[in-house]
Formats: sequence, structure tokens, C-alpha cells
Amino acid sequence: MDITPSSIREKFKKLFPGEPLSIRSPGRINLIGEHTDYNDGFVMPAAIDREIFFAIAPAENNTSCIHAMKYGESFHPDIQNPEKVDQPLWANYLLGVLRQFVDGGYSMQHFNCVFGGNVPLGAGLSSSAALECGFAFALSELNGLHIPKQKLMFMAQWAEHHFAGVKCGIMDQFASMMGEEGKVMLLDCRSMEFQYFPLALDNHAIVLCDTKVKHALVDSEYNTRRQECERGVEVLKQHYPAIKSLRDVTRDMLTIHATELTGKVFNRCQYIVEEIIRVQGASKDLLQHNLTAFGAKMYETHYGLSKLYEVSCPELDFLVEQAKSFDAVLGSRMMGGGFGGCTINLIRKDDVHHFISALSTAYKNAFGIDMGVHVVQIKDGTSIVA
Ligand code: GLA
Repeated sequence: MDITPSSIREKFKKLFPGEPLSIRSPGRINLIGEHTDYNDGFVMPAAIDREIFFAIAPAENNTSCIHAMKYGESFHPDIQNPEKVDQPLWANYLLGVLRQFVDGGYSMQHFNCVFGGNVPLGAGLSSSAALECGFAFALSELNGLHIPKQKLMFMAQWAEHHFAGVKCGIMDQFASMMGEEGKVMLLDCRSMEFQYFPLALDNHAIVLCDTKVKHALVDSEYNTRRQECERGVEVLKQHYPAIKSLRDVTRDMLTIHATELTGKVFNRCQYIVEEIIRVQGASKDLLQHNLTAFGAKMYETHYGLSKLYEVSCPELDFLVEQAKSFDAVLGSRMMGGGFGGCTINLIRKDDVHHFISALSTAYKNAFGIDMGVHVVQIKDGTSIVA
């Protein structure tokens, strides 16, 4: 069944009294700038037409209830003292957001809420950020708090860090909240300054190829990468005390102190330092409509993520390698945290069909898995549904 704001509303009407407020919150793509957010670098995400919808209204009794449409499951959160739970796992994303409201001293009334959507889980399209951001926005609006989105996104990120256990950067929550239809955003994750620019793809399209795999250890590997970057900063700081993050590090610094950056730390730092430079070049490419140069950088990013940062997997590498053999593909790379999920491909429109069918067949032959495909549109960030 297709989940839409209306189907969520209908479900709400079946379960609870009152006229609910409808909220939508999107997943995201990221054109370039991967794992740079928590290193104070740049990212280039956009919100997409894969969304989570909420229907929420004040509750008349003194309890709150959240119903997850996908699981047909309800949960009664303690809104005075929200704590992490063992089950259901989906509740933790919402409980973490509630915790932020309680800790922030915001007064909240009891509520009933139904949510569900069409952001594929585990595909690297940030279903968790969509969930956290949508719920934070819903609570803020329901209670007449009108907390600015730029604050809500950090509350959502806190939930991910402390209740979901992933020390993510700010990209996903930023993109989900701040997206604008038809526009990508260039975000400086250090200053949090950003600019929108129209994504003029001419006769090209963005196609996401979904490996349909999500390898175990994603979350722990993510947190390990973050620590490895911090280790690099610690070592280099001894020589250059002004360094605060890998954003301040140059290739030369890495080369000079290579032997001190032991284990995998050198490679991790090299990837990040290069990627931060690459995103700045890529944003110029886009502005100058040089999609060929932009696409070449996508391939370079993938190489770095796969060989230096080591967050790819055989399925993702395979899809990128295959994509390279198509003249119509300007660039292809894994997208998001890694270890599964999607590749993002920049491809000439008239070849999309052929590309998808050839890649699906090759993928099926190699891994026995039916590749997923998402052709996405760029949409507004978290908002009330009229
Ligand atoms: C995940 C995290 C983001 C970002 C990406 C990698 O999506 O949530 O903060 O680090 O991985 O770019």
C-alpha cells in the first residue's frame, strides 16, 4: 500500500479522536562531500521526494501514544521522562527527540501520533533523520513553540547520537529540515553557513542504484572512522596547535607527519582532506555547468571512500565499476555512510532506461540480488502539509 499524508490521516482517524496536524519530512541525497560533515568540511545535499508523514493531535487523556504504520505497532512514551528502550527500536529515534524537548525545558501536552512513509530503510537516504526531524518539527508546531529549524535539526542530531548510538554529522538533519524544491545546498559544516543553488542538470538525471544490502557493523564502523579522524587531529595538533579539525589540515602537513599517523589514520585523513578540497571544486563545476568535471569528481570520491576511507563494500564497488563502462554516465559513487545502500549516478537522460536494465542484470548475475532503483526529485525540507 502507498503511504501518503491521507493514508496516515485516515489511520489516525481510526485510532484517535481529533483533527490531526499533518507534517512531512524528507530523506536526502548528497551529490558530493561524504564523511566531511563531522570533520567541519563541506557537503552538498538536497531533500528528496521520499518522505515520512506524521499526523499528530493533542490527546484528551493523560497519556501519549505513537503508532508506527509500517509495523502496525503502538508505543506509549513517558513524555515527562523519556528514556531509551530495548524494544521497539523505532521508538528510540522519537524518544531521543522527546528527551531534547524535556531537557530544553519546553512544555509539552500529551499527544497521539501516527507516522509512516516511503523512505527506504537502510538505503542510505536518511530515513532516521527524516523521522527525527519530522517528529521534532511536529512537536514544536503542535505545542505552538515554533522552534527555528536550525535549532530543531541539532535536537534531532542529538537523538541520533544518544538514542540511536550513531555519532553522525549534521548533514542529514540539515538536508531534511532545510531543503528547497529543485535546489541543492552547499553547507559549510563549520560555520553552518549555506547557500542554495538550482540543480541545472540539462539533459541529465540523477539515478540511485540500491544494492539492497546493509552490512552489519555500519554504525560501529561509522563511529570508528570518526575516532580515526580525531586521532589524526590529535597527532597533528602537537605540531600545529591551531588545528581544530581536519578542515584545517593540508596535504603537506599529512605528508610531513605521515609516519606519525599510524595504522589506518593516514589514509583516513588523506581522504577527508582531499574530499574537503574536492567539494569546493565541485561546487564551482556545478555553477559553471561543467557536469563532466563534476562527474569526474564523483568517481574520485568513490575511489577515496573505497580505498582510503574503506567504507564501501563489494556490491557498491561493483555498481560503480559497471557504471564507468557507460559513456552516458558522467559520475557514480557510493552515497551516505557506506557499507551498503545506494550509489548516486549522474547520467544522460536518454540512456537511463538502458543503464538501469543493463546494471540490474549484471548485478543480479554477480550477487543474486534484484537491484533497486530510485529516480528522485528534489523537494522542500520538513514542513506542514496543507
Ligand atoms: C551518514 C551520517 C552523516 C554523514 C554521512 C556520510 O549519513 O548521518 O552525518 O556523515 O553518513 O557523509
